Amino acid sequence: MDQIPIHIGIIMDGNGRWAKKRFLPRVFGHVRGVSALKKTIMHCNDIGVKHLTVFAFGRENWQRPNSEVNFLMKLMLKKLNHELSELHAKNARIRFIGDRSRLNKQLLDSIIYAESQTQKNTGLQFNVCLDYSGQYDIVQAVNRIIKEGKHEQINEEILAGYLLTHDQPAPELIIRTSGECRLSNFMLWQSAYSELYFTPLFWPEFSPQELDKAIEWYNNRERRFGQISEQLKEASC
Ligand code: IPE
Ligand code: IPE
Ligand code: MG
Repeated sequence: MDQIPIHIGIIMDGNGRWAKKRFLPRVFGHVRGVSALKKTIMHCNDIGVKHLTVFAFGRENWQRPNSEVNFLMKLMLKKLNHELSELHAKNARIRFIGDRSRLNKQLLDSIIYAESQTQKNTGLQFNVCLDYSGQYDIVQAVNRIIKEGKHEQINEEILAGYLLTHDQPAPELIIRTSGECRLSNFMLWQSAYSELYFTPLFWPEFSPQELDKAIEWYNNRERRFGQISEQLKEASC
């Protein structure tokens, strides 16, 4: 039996290329991407993943054409409102991670409502990275530390305590679709020892079976954390 990672991160990439391949406008890819996400959330819930963090919109994505950015924001609002009750019924807890200052009020209100509605749920913790970047997370942590003025010096543990994900474990497994082999500013701090799984599939093509494949691959990794293989074998005896 495969060991299920406690925390999985996903860089959902390739929506635009999925649509382009079908001679459809890019935004069709985003709509199909949401369907793939829904199936992924439900599957994570079913197999017992405790934390799922998805990269939905990065800080650099504001540089896309206005029409695409507006479409993505509207899509997010619509799907959040539409899917919230089902997520709540599944005992999932939803949280948005990133800079909230540039989001429009309607979306922000829905986010705050969704988070408070599901706050006490004890099932899957579902994190949506929105107007997020790993660098932004580190910078906001440092700024809060300076503002508080409590620490003259910091270390890894102190800094980690100020990250937006401070109360969640680091992802053991990060999946990126679409064949790109980069992090694009996703969870830079938290991915220090994550296993990185890259698949050529575009995000709308991703499925529960593909997630199982990624988990199977993860189970074949030897996670050494700087040690050598023999030490790990000794420790497990
Ligand atoms: C990922 O798909 C979704 C977002 C970044 C919002 P893309 O839109 O990046 O699709 P490609 O990479 O252009 O195919
Ligand atoms: C990464 O995808 C961000 C999200 C999936 C939201 P991008 O498509 O923006 O990344 P790059 O530009 O190809 O690195
Ligand atoms: Mg992309």
